[in-house]
Amino acid sequence: MRLIIHENHKDASRWAALYIADKINAHYTATTKPFVLGLPTGSSPLLIYQELVQLHKAGTLSFANVHSYNMDEYIGLPASHPQSYRYFMQEHFFNHVDIDPAHAHVLNGMTEDTMKECQQYEEAIAKEGGINLFLGGMGSNGHIAFNEPGSSMQSRTRIKTLTEETRIANSRFFDGDVSKVPTTALTVGVATIMDSREVLIIVNGKNKARALRAVVEEGVNHMWTLSYFQMHPKTIIVCDEDAAEELKVGTVRYFKNTEKRN
Ligand code: GLP
Repeated sequence: MRLIIHENHKDASRWAALYIADKINAHYTATTKPFVLGLPTGSSPLLIYQELVQLHKAGTLSFANVHSYNMDEYIGLPASHPQSYRYFMQEHFFNHVDIDPAHAHVLNGMTEDTMKECQQYEEAIAKEGGINLFLGGMGSNGHIAFNEPGSSMQSRTRIKTLTEETRIANSRFFDGDVSKVPTTALTVGVATIMDSREVLIIVNGKNKARALRAVVEEGVNHMWTLSYFQMHPKTIIVCDEDAAEELKVGTVRYFKNTEKRN
């Protein structure tokens, strides 16, 4: 696991956006196959989306041959609901780039058959030959996507009940009213993300510091599901100083020195 600490969220986001752009452009040079990109929602990746849109507008990045798969979606929110993840993606990213709408996949939280929806999502990803790069964020309880504490390392796309902590954290998008936050969601599993060739996680803010410390400094632990990615061959966490606040001085120094040599 690589940990890259930037002074602030903006710098971390710019670094992540350029990293993604380089990967997509290098892929286009090497092959005509689509670049398969996993995507998150939330406040953490917002600046990355802005940067990617800027790169696209500047003519240096195209999503024409990108196939995207979002991590998760609330159950019971239609695409027209401003807090649905489909709505978020259209607003902040898909509507501003040249991705083919048919290739911009988000789980359908309104499905009548959640089992079928989840199975088809896994099959679609497998048919693509897997995900080249999965971008993600982290919940304040250390979750990735909606893989809440206790999720299995073998988990696949499925329905999950959200923890109280997650619903309280996300209530800021629902007029601060926890009762408006759905209680369940569809989410890719830990194993779905683990199968990706690369994983890039953006973490920012003091409210993530406790979880980041557990994920980086403690062992693999099912109660902090992002920690499973210590076992992934190519995971990068890019964070700001605020999120790194609870790491040991020695840990910060180690990762900063490692990056200097890269
Ligand atoms: C949600 C999402 C996660 C996201 C996390 C953090 O619960 N399911 O994918 O990483 O919250 O959100 P934020 O970036 O807004 O802090």
